[in-house]
Amino acid sequence: MLAAPNPRFLAGLCLVALASRIAAEDSEQRGPQKPITLRQSGGFTIGGKIIHNPSNPNMTLSCDHGYVEYFTPWTPRKTSIVMWHSSSTQTFQNRWDGGEGFKDMFLRRDYPVYLWEGPRVGRANWACSPTSYAPDYRDQGNFVAWNFGPVFKEWWPDVQFPTASEYAWQQATNSRYVEYDSEASLNLETDAAAIAADSGKLGEDIVYLTNSASGCAPR
Ligand SMILES: *[C@@H]1O[C@H](CO)[C@@H](O)[C@H](O)[C@H]1NC(C)=O
Repeated sequence: MLAAPNPRFLAGLCLVALASRIAAEDSEQRGPQKPITLRQSGGFTIGGKIIHNPSNPNMTLSCDHGYVEYFTPWTPRKTSIVMWHSSSTQTFQNRWDGGEGFKDMFLRRDYPVYLWEGPRVGRANWACSPTSYAPDYRDQGNFVAWNFGPVFKEWWPDVQFPTASEYAWQQATNSRYVEYDSEASLNLETDAAAIAADSGKLGEDIVYLTNSASGCAPR
């Protein structure tokens, strides 16, 4: 199932290494930092389709588009960083101890940052096909799936998560979106991400920084 990694995927891996190094530097030197100066910020939808009501073709639904929130530094570098997490953009916005997330780390270093939400999740949640949601008791499953520890609230000794903070844990589990991790949904997300990349609206040199199930999609 693993195809040969394509250049974009490799770029993603390198960026993860760079991001870890930046994270280490930042935690060593907290305190006053270079301000973040933006030229502009905003958002837009991209991709998707318009489907027609079979019993009245005049009635349509615009659906399956992705959503992008963008932040452009005052003096932007050429390389854009598109941050794509399958479960929530929040994972890039802050550390769970409230510290600086990758979004601000890269903005501070003048990279244009794009927070991507694929079709059907987050701010792009109009689906062209039926979806279903049924409450499921998955907080404990989140803990293990995110590899915080072998069983709920049994933290691995070296996690960076603020393990003593019930508030932080609640934030993390609350931030998760409802996801549709089927192959069809991953293909849909990938197609929309490709359309976004080709649109020119994310810049010319683009690195997709993926995490969790979104890392399955760009292949
Ligand atoms: C759809 O719109 C066309 C053009 O306005 C109109 O002639 C037609 O009656 C409409 N169809 C329905 C089912 O409302």
